[in-house]
Amino acid sequence: MTRHDGKQASAPSAPSAPSAPSAPSAPSAPSAPPIRVLGLGGSLRRPSQSETALRMALRGAKEAGAVTELISADALRLPLYPSPDMATDPKVVALLAAVRRADGLILASPAYHGTMSGVLKNALDYLQYLADDEPPYLDGRAVGALSTGDGTQAVVQTVDALRSVVHALRAWPTPIGVAIHEAGRTLQDGEVSDDRVAELLRAMGAQVVEFALARRALRAAAP
Ligand SMILES: Cc1cc2nc3c(=O)[nH]c(=O)nc-3n(C[C@H](O)[C@H](O)[C@H](O)COP(=O)(O)O)c2cc1C
Repeated sequence: MTRHDGKQASAPSAPSAPSAPSAPSAPSAPSAPPIRVLGLGGSLRRPSQSETALRMALRGAKEAGAVTELISADALRLPLYPSPDMATDPKVVALLAAVRRADGLILASPAYHGTMSGVLKNALDYLQYLADDEPPYLDGRAVGALSTGDGTQAVVQTVDALRSVVHALRAWPTPIGVAIHEAGRTLQDGEVSDDRVAELLRAMGAQVVEFALARRALRAAAP
């Protein structure tokens, strides 16, 4: 048979013989839910250098087997904590739901005058809603921190400040934190152009997953 494009169409294949019924298989163990890693941060600048770095860190988490989610600066434009009606604000509700389902987090901020952005700090203050959760706050979860800046000093301070918040929220800062100084050289047009920085970011993402898996194994082994 000739098709409209002039090529020969393949003949219809003969019906295949019915296959033998397969032996009943043993019931398989229920598969564990995926590790979920949530990235929070960036800025409204386009492209945002800190968001670009955050995406690379999340890529590392994904490569390590996690399902990843990103809440970027636009979705972090929350009313100033505390505000009337904040509990029903759709962005607050979405943030808290995403944090509650996360097994680990990655925080990203541009350095603003030597520390994290007000937008990210305000969003983190909303985690006060997790105070009465069981476990409370970010207990038992690893959190990676990264910062980008034009200069050389503030990014280190910003990573430290993020880690201080992580400690206050009872989480575990990852051994790797990524302070990207003179970020314009490394993060251009929404890409991480320096392989070493990209590798560090991915390794930090992988550490968040590694910790979550270790915690899960520990809990499973607990009497
Ligand atoms: C208000 C403001 C304050 C800043 N303060 C610092 C600073 O203290 N140190 C620094 O290295 N860069 C500083 N920067 C530069 C940003 O941190 C830098 O450009 C960052 O990589 C931008 O990230 P973004 O593209 O995600 O917004 C500042 C920028 C702004 C807008």
